[in-house]
Amino acid sequence: MKQVSNIIAAVAHENLPTFDRSGLLKDVLAQLKINPDGAHGTNHWARVRKHALTIGGAVSADLLVVELFAFLHDSQRHNEWVDPDHGNRAADYAASLNKTYFDLDGGQLDLLCTAMRGHSNGHIDPHPTIQTCWDADRLDLGRVGIKPAAKYLSRHGATHIEAAYAWSLKRAWS
Ligand SMILES: [Fe+2]
Repeated sequence: MKQVSNIIAAVAHENLPTFDRSGLLKDVLAQLKINPDGAHGTNHWARVRKHALTIGGAVSADLLVVELFAFLHDSQRHNEWVDPDHGNRAADYAASLNKTYFDLDGGQLDLLCTAMRGHSNGHIDPHPTIQTCWDADRLDLGRVGIKPAAKYLSRHGATHIEAAYAWSLKRAWS
């Protein structure tokens, strides 16, 4: 499936945690209710993933958790606009997939679920893994015509605003 290989190939990092990326993405795409080519689809996931791994590596975040966030945080949207419960549904979906495509311990699953449940609220969290997830998502707001604002990002995340905005406007894979 071209979309799956594009997402995974969009960033090549050494020493990333091992899990069944292809199986997970096929599962996510098979149940997706929104357009995979839309504003919250695969192109967005790939950019969020790259931001998450870049920022996460710099702030010692859990790279497995932040990569899973990229793939899953918008996976349960019912529409592209107002869907305030999609983060809660994504957290429940992630928990149902644990031990099938990836293997999170209890603490990691809590971090992933907390990040997904709260990712649309505009808050800042002191935990580097949670904030890396939120930074990564917010840095791609340029795809919907919004320039990311530093007040909604970590200090490190804010250093990526200009490059991320330019990338989002191109709507490119990498
Ligand atoms: Fe998102």
